[in-house]
Amino acid sequence: MRIITEQNKRYGNIHYFCTYIGDPLTCYVLRGRNGDMLIDTGLPFMRRRLAEYLSDYDIRYILLTHAHVDHDGNAVRLRRDTGAEILLGERDRELIGHYGRQPVKATSPRYRARNAQQNFMGRMNLFSTRPYVPDIYLSSGNTGILRELGFNAEAVPLPGHTLGSVGVLSEGVLYCGDAFTAIWGKPDITPHAASPAAMERSLERILDISPEWLATGHGLPLRMKDARPVIRKYLLMSRQRKLK
Ligand SMILES: [Fe+2]
Repeated sequence: MRIITEQNKRYGNIHYFCTYIGDPLTCYVLRGRNGDMLIDTGLPFMRRRLAEYLSDYDIRYILLTHAHVDHDGNAVRLRRDTGAEILLGERDRELIGHYGRQPVKATSPRYRARNAQQNFMGRMNLFSTRPYVPDIYLSSGNTGILRELGFNAEAVPLPGHTLGSVGVLSEGVLYCGDAFTAIWGKPDITPHAASPAAMERSLERILDISPEWLATGHGLPLRMKDARPVIRKYLLMSRQRKLK
């Protein structure tokens, strides 16, 4: 298991913990006035090393960008160990413990096989998180709540990959979960989405926000200038497909 954090590779002021076991999986920490926030928690096998990394922080909140097992897999144990409150997008409530409840579609024909595998795994208990109850549900009606909790940040609904996917915008960094990806070491479109149409609207939103950095759920942080052409090309191709 290979781990890269800001202690050995810096990307602006982003605090991150990226684990490679096959594909990369990335969690982030946001510093706050009244304690810190962990963004995503990874899979259970990462927990011990993640907990070591987090010992430098005072984790009071755990924000889950979405309720897929590779993002919420350690939420319950970390809440127990730290006393942190869990935040999750309201529309992902149904996914907790049953991530196959929002079947996904391939975002490109080349991801069809991968997508079928994802839906198959989503139906297996093995790949579901133990059920938990978030402390705070995020929706378009309470995006300012992170400021109230002491963070220079706002929640940004980014539905598509899951219906309740949510990002965090803070100081030029958009922590975007799986709304976009660096899973293959370069900017790329996430291979599957519960709603590809909603995902496209979220990609347009990311273009509008135009942060300096995109901190994705898989891989190391990306510069928006490198991600922008990939997003634009995908949206253009999608529009052309619809016109055919
Ligand atoms: Fe995901």
